[in-house]
Amino acid sequence: MSPRFATLALIVPALAGCELEPDVGPAFADRCTNADSDPAKSVSYTDDIVPLFFRDAAGCTPCHDPSQNDGALGVQLGGLDLSTYQSLLRGGFNSTGSIVVPGRPCESVLFLKVSPGQPFGSRMPFNGPPFLTAPELRNVHDWIAEGAKEN
Ligand code: HEC
Repeated sequence: MSPRFATLALIVPALAGCELEPDVGPAFADRCTNADSDPAKSVSYTDDIVPLFFRDAAGCTPCHDPSQNDGALGVQLGGLDLSTYQSLLRGGFNSTGSIVVPGRPCESVLFLKVSPGQPFGSRMPFNGPPFLTAPELRNVHDWIAEGAKEN
């Protein structure tokens, strides 16, 4: 675990216990850095990111794939279709062009919405917990830091 995520693991329970300020977005944004946590390791969209989107538990496409027949709530209410790389890059109602900002995970709504301290609405997946694990969050972060390529 990188020092940054170790710190995150420590502050999240502390923030969860804070009654005064449930919206922890700014606090988290202060701690987010755009640097790739492991430049020696390349994160693959196909192998590391797509499987997160398409799984049932702590996944996304039950709600963010318009071909799903059980409502696709995230498409209807969030406007975000995660079924292809092209549709991901189009973003949703709030994110539009900032869904993925190549090289800048801390400004990318995709990363911020799955992190504690989401900038608006609910933390994703909407039906969580479970949420993404620290290594999964790091993969999303580093994939964007490495340019968010369709690799
Ligand atoms: C149970 C349904 C559900 C699941 C599962 C789900 N979402 Fe969502 N998603 C929603 C809903 C509803 C909204 C709109 C409300 C909001 O933004 O909180 C939304 C909104 C979003 C948005 C904001 C779109 C915009 O531009 O306004 C992002 C980004 C997002 N989801 C990403 C994800 C990711 C990534 C996953 C999987 C890790 C995921 N969601 C899983 C229902 C879901």
